[in-house]
This record gives sequence, structure tokens and C-alpha cells, in this order.
Amino acid sequence: MVVAVVVGLLTAVPGLADVRRRFEHASVGWLLLAIAAELGSVLSYRRPAGQLGLGTPKVRAMAERTPLSKRDPRENQMSKQEFVTRIEQAPLLDRLADPLTAAVRNALPAGPLKDGLSGTWLGHPLHPLLTDVPIGAWTSSLMLDAVGGRESRRAADRLIAIGILAALPTAATGIADWGDTQPKERRVGLVHAVANTTALALFSGSLLARRRGRRTRGIVFSLAGAGALGAGGYLGGHLTFALGLGVDRTAFASPPTDWTDAIAENDVSESELAHATVNGVGAVLTRYEGEVVALADRCTHRGAPLHEGTLCDGAIVCPWHQSIFRLADGTIVQGPATRPAPRFEVRVRAGRVELRAARQLSSAR
Ligand code: FES
Repeated sequence: MVVAVVVGLLTAVPGLADVRRRFEHASVGWLLLAIAAELGSVLSYRRPAGQLGLGTPKVRAMAERTPLSKRDPRENQMSKQEFVTRIEQAPLLDRLADPLTAAVRNALPAGPLKDGLSGTWLGHPLHPLLTDVPIGAWTSSLMLDAVGGRESRRAADRLIAIGILAALPTAATGIADWGDTQPKERRVGLVHAVANTTALALFSGSLLARRRGRRTRGIVFSLAGAGALGAGGYLGGHLTFALGLGVDRTAFASPPTDWTDAIAENDVSESELAHATVNGVGAVLTRYEGEVVALADRCTHRGAPLHEGTLCDGAIVCPWHQSIFRLADGTIVQGPATRPAPRFEVRVRAGRVELRAARQLSSAR
């Protein structure tokens, strides 16, 4: 509320015409934000039950809460985690998420289009990279609304349009990734998509309002869109940093750097995939052109056990989403994986296969 008062005083002082112009519309947005913050603060303050005069038990429970500023930070952090955990564990969301992801998998089978959207050609998932464009464009537009003045209005509107255009390929890459998710990720991904679609709709409404000359309404739409965008971004961050979506599933493995006994040589044949564990790291082994070869058993994409996959033309096909890795060096023939399969060096001593991490791949990580 203090911000709104300061802005209001600034816009009222005679002689500050330039300041007034700059904050002409931004002040409306700030005022709405301040009112929303004040309402949130009122609802979150500890008060005797029923003091607000709002009679439902739910509202009384809200009135009992301690203000965020007086809470233990760990409690605040827990409430956010609880919120996301509830999304992760809401099987109700499966009713929508399961058929939708199945439709995505049918529409986007493994192949060049899927690889293009997944970022196989880039060596990293493409979706997080593209999200910078709509987020950056819409955030910059809000900045221009706030401090750019009348002369920046056209630029602000164009940035919103750029964000809308960029949101379409961004959504396409996100949908491609979402098709290959496990239940927890799938549920959070669904809510993430709903939040971002809401943001897209609100910024589209903002652009429409601005085109019709209703600038104040457009700014209000933008602010609401920024809120939805923030919620979507938070969940997107959770998908990556908490659930590891898009992270190379072998990134934290520590394969042995010294020769380590793995399996009897006779247990490795040309036509089958064998499994062994060295230093707690799984390896998938077979013979290729007469030589024993070994790759990390976890698929770099979503962690599938590659020894449950199939052999095809000197490569392993992942059993979950059909990424294909060359036996000779672990490089990708087909995505959606974006990182090669780490390779082991192999030697045979007295009928036993010994493995150690291949130097070039372990140092590349
Ligand atoms: S886990 Fe997805 S391609 Fe292997």
C-alpha cells in the first residue's frame, strides 16, 4: 500500500508532469497489486476466530494464520513444498493427464520431429531455452508499462505480441517433453501447462485491450498474466530442479576410474544384453564386431534400464521412449535423449570382464 501512496503523491504534485505521465498507467497496476497484497495480509493475520465477521469454518481457519513475515521461514518453505507435493500426489489429475500424454505420444512418435522438439540436435532439452523468450518479452513489456512512459507504449505492445508468438513453439517443446513423463512429473506438468496457458490467454487479452485503446485494462491483464506466468515458472523450476526432468540421469553417477571386475566373459554374447554393476553403477554389456562393449545402463533421458532394451544394427534401443545409442561409443542415433550414453572401457582378464569409465566421456561431464 505504501508504494501506491507514494505513486499517488508523485502523480498529484504539480510540476511533476513527466513523472505523472510515466506513472499514469503503472500506478493503476501498482495500486491493484498493493490492494491484493493488503487483502492477503489481512487474511493471513492471526485474529480471534470469527473476528472478521465471516462465518465459515474455512475463513475462520484462514484468520487464525500467522502473517508470513512472522512465520518461521522453514514453515513458509514447507507450505510451498506441501502445495507442490499435493499436486504430485493428486491422482485426480491423471484423469486428464494420462489420456493427454497418451495422445501426445501417439501424435509425436520417436523420429526427427520429436528429436527436433526435444533438443536432441542441441545436446540439451530445448524447452527451457525457449521459455526465456516469452518470459523475457512479457516481463520487459511490464517494465516499459511501469517506467517507459507514453513513448514506449508501442514497444510494450510489440513485446507482448512477440511473447505470444514465442509461446507457441515453447509450448510445443514442452508438450513433447511432457509426453515422456512419469506420473508425478505428469501431474505437475499439467498444472504448469494450465498456468502458462492462462498467462498466454491473459497477455493475449492484454494485447487485444491495448489495440482497442483500453490501455489500463490491458495493463491489468498483463499483471494478471505475470502472476500466472510466475506460478507456471515456479512449477517448471520444480519439474527440473526437484524432479530432475530434463537432467541427464547419469549426471551424478560415479563409475570406477580403475579397472573393476564386472561379469564373466562367457555371460556376454553378441545377440543379448547383459547387466552388471561396478561401484554401484549399472552397465549394459554385449558384443559388437567380436569385442565386448559396455555403456551406462541408465538411459540419459529418463533413466530407463537399457539392458531391458533391444539390439538393432549396432545400437541399443531404449525400452521406454525408443532413444537409440550406438554400441561403439554411446552417441545418439535417435532421441528423444539429448545426452549420449556414457561408455565404459573394457578389458578381459582370465575370463572376467573388467570395466572402467571411458576417459573422454567422464571428463566431458
Ligand atoms: S528413458 Fe526415455 S528414451 Fe530412454
